[in-house]
Amino acid sequence: MLHKEWESRWNENRIGFHRGEVNPLLMKFGDCITDPSHRILVPLCGKTLDMLWLSKRCHTVIGSELIEKAVVDFFQENQLEYTVSEAMPLHCYRSEIATLYQGDFFQLTPNHLGTIHVAYDRASIVALPQNLRAPYANHLVSLVQPGGTILLITFYYDQSLMSGPPYSVTPEEIQSLFQELCNVEPLFEQDVIESESARFRQKGLTWLKEAVFRLTVR
Ligand SMILES: C[S@@+](CC[C@H](N)C(=O)[O-])C[C@H]1O[C@@H](n2cnc3c(N)ncnc32)[C@H](O)[C@@H]1O
Repeated sequence: MLHKEWESRWNENRIGFHRGEVNPLLMKFGDCITDPSHRILVPLCGKTLDMLWLSKRCHTVIGSELIEKAVVDFFQENQLEYTVSEAMPLHCYRSEIATLYQGDFFQLTPNHLGTIHVAYDRASIVALPQNLRAPYANHLVSLVQPGGTILLITFYYDQSLMSGPPYSVTPEEIQSLFQELCNVEPLFEQDVIESESARFRQKGLTWLKEAVFRLTVR
């Protein structure tokens, strides 16, 4: 989707991906996040409350989000004071608990981020069409230090029944995107069709799987 389409989604509140609570899978598998000095990157972060949970474990949480409304909503809805500065070609929104770079993730560089030890992708790679997933995987890995961890939660389903986003990104695709760059460890998988929004069932989906991976950057 283009910038304008994401902007419309946010302006019209068509953000079914947003959760009003911390993701239980992050709480379950976030045990790799133990060092408070570690710096965490949340690519394509939206206004996820997962950043609040992460900020209780680590001092530095950095999000990347395209749409200004999502960024401002995150701070306002969580009663966080923030400042805004230029971080060419992005904008940097800084608060006590998280720093969010507003703009295109592909323009985020180590100069913006410094060292990143852990990245957390939930509903991020699945937000991107196929032609952007390899560039995304390469860019994400390039931002995380060798030995660092990427905790990734993907969704997959019968793509012939529904167009994305969320796109279907299978465990096989995760393997093939990351295996040259990382040690890829599948951690968990579950069918979430019953607990997910009715719009998936309305499209005729009878299953929708969520799979968790731990990727260790080489
Ligand atoms: C499906 S949402 C997931 C948000 C979040 N990870 C969550 O779990 O709630 C994907 C988000 O990525 C943002 N986005 C899309 N393309 C982007 C890009 N190139 N750079 C940064 N953010 C982007 C969208 O605005 C949207 O908020």
